[in-house]
Amino acid sequence: MSERIAHLGLRRKIMTADEAAALIEPGDNVGMSGFTGAGYPKAVPQALAARIHAFRTDGHDFRIGVWTGASTAPELDGALAEADGIELRLPYQSDPVSRAKINAGRMDYIDVHLSHVAQMAWEGFLGPLGVALVEIAGITEQGHLIPSSSIGNNKTWIDIADKVILEVNSWQPEGLVGMHDVYYGTELPPDRKPVMITAPGDRIGVPHFICPPEKVVGIVETHAPDRNTPFKPPDEDSKAIAGHFIEFLDAEVRAGRMPEGLLPLQSGVGNIANAVLAGLGESGRKGLTAYTEVLQDGMLDLIESGTIALASATAFSLSPAGIEHFLDRIDEFRERIILRPQEISNHPEVIRRLGVIASNGMIEADIYGNVNSTHIMGSRIQNGIGGSGDFARNAFVSTFVTPSTAKDGALSCIVPMASHVDHTEHDVDVIITEQGLADLRGLAPRKRAERIIANCAHPEYRPMLEDYTARAAHRAWGRHTPHLLAEALSWHQRFMDTGSMRPH
Ligand code: COA
Repeated sequence: MSERIAHLGLRRKIMTADEAAALIEPGDNVGMSGFTGAGYPKAVPQALAARIHAFRTDGHDFRIGVWTGASTAPELDGALAEADGIELRLPYQSDPVSRAKINAGRMDYIDVHLSHVAQMAWEGFLGPLGVALVEIAGITEQGHLIPSSSIGNNKTWIDIADKVILEVNSWQPEGLVGMHDVYYGTELPPDRKPVMITAPGDRIGVPHFICPPEKVVGIVETHAPDRNTPFKPPDEDSKAIAGHFIEFLDAEVRAGRMPEGLLPLQSGVGNIANAVLAGLGESGRKGLTAYTEVLQDGMLDLIESGTIALASATAFSLSPAGIEHFLDRIDEFRERIILRPQEISNHPEVIRRLGVIASNGMIEADIYGNVNSTHIMGSRIQNGIGGSGDFARNAFVSTFVTPSTAKDGALSCIVPMASHVDHTEHDVDVIITEQGLADLRGLAPRKRAERIIANCAHPEYRPMLEDYTARAAHRAWGRHTPHLLAEALSWHQRFMDTGSMRPH
């Protein structure tokens, strides 16, 4: 009997993953834990996928709605998508099988700002939540649920679901106890109160989830690791991007716009974000803070070196090596890390108050500063907007990073017109590629275009972009944001037709 379940009444609810999966019915919406490969349920989704297969074999359809914190891992998204068991997915995913089904039009997907999901669920737009399926690290004698390596939307799922299934994962370290800060003060308007975080280290909640024991219909014990892919070592482009970003921060300090200790940092997902963190570690700064969404390997290194004194997030996103590192020094990290619900880690009010420095990856930017973070060639979803909009819209300064080209140079990530827009020109302050940095603050559209092309575009595509801009400046219907509409997206069409944006 698991030592991790100290509440005697709840111990009686232990069952197998198959038994728990049998409590989920076709058509249910299931609110699952999980955020970037951390803290997702590892056994019941796979048992559910098997149940769905069996239903299909008997000629019945079985699909559910899957709501999470963000992306998960193959044992959840992959298994259920493989079984064709997901009718609707939200609010963020990055699984290759799900992505293929969504792009083939076989799975619905709602791509939502991560801070908006809880409110949307409370308001009822998503329908009723039948089941919350949440991984936790343990249950106290009083029946409090100890969160695991991510918090995401778990508090909301437990609050609003009709019934709760828990996975108690003994692989999750007991040293996580006390690292979480679960805020129970969120109300819908007109009763909403200020979220009283005035520094990244402020604690405003409790270190556990509150769940009436009678709501729990099943508990499954697991011992399985979180799963994230290893980060690539920083390449030359990532190092150059990191270098430009750090020079920019130094210049901001010299200009008196930021203190020596900077402002709280937010760092997006992926290899470039990780490389930017590595660059920051070499910059010699100490005692910085982070108010961010996920903690990648690079952030642990910064905490250990003292570059970052304190980091607030909603989840870890660690490679296998990063997990080892974390487990080795968990007692030190616990003093410097706070995990919060994603509606708080990504809260616009807090991000604006703290003056966060945001840095996020993108697919492409156009010459006026509109950014596409989600859609390849305007129609094929890559991952989703995630928290990038929460941060970009509300940050003190919002930066976006990308290599200047993709697909071995066959396409330019700086284009005349973004094929899809997630972040408008109004929310984008700085664009950075390996070529350089364009600070767009205080610039009108035509000046922004000059700067983005000169500083960020790859030399091979720069003359084409200059030519477009010059012709648009003379022939466009309006000269405020000059475009030749029929031509603007022809770059993307050329890539789709010939495999390259270069003229043939
Ligand atoms: N046009 C077409 N395809 C492009 C492209 C462009 N301009 N730029 C990149 N791609 C392709 C890459 O070739 C790659 O394709 P592949 O999977 O077939 O190899 C794919 O897009 C991903 O590119 P990659 O360079 O590996 O991306 P990344 O790991 O740096 O991530 C984003 C970039 C934009 C996909 C990622 O940052 C993201 O999902 N952002 C949105 C969410 C977010 O910002 N979250 C953080 C908030 S806290």
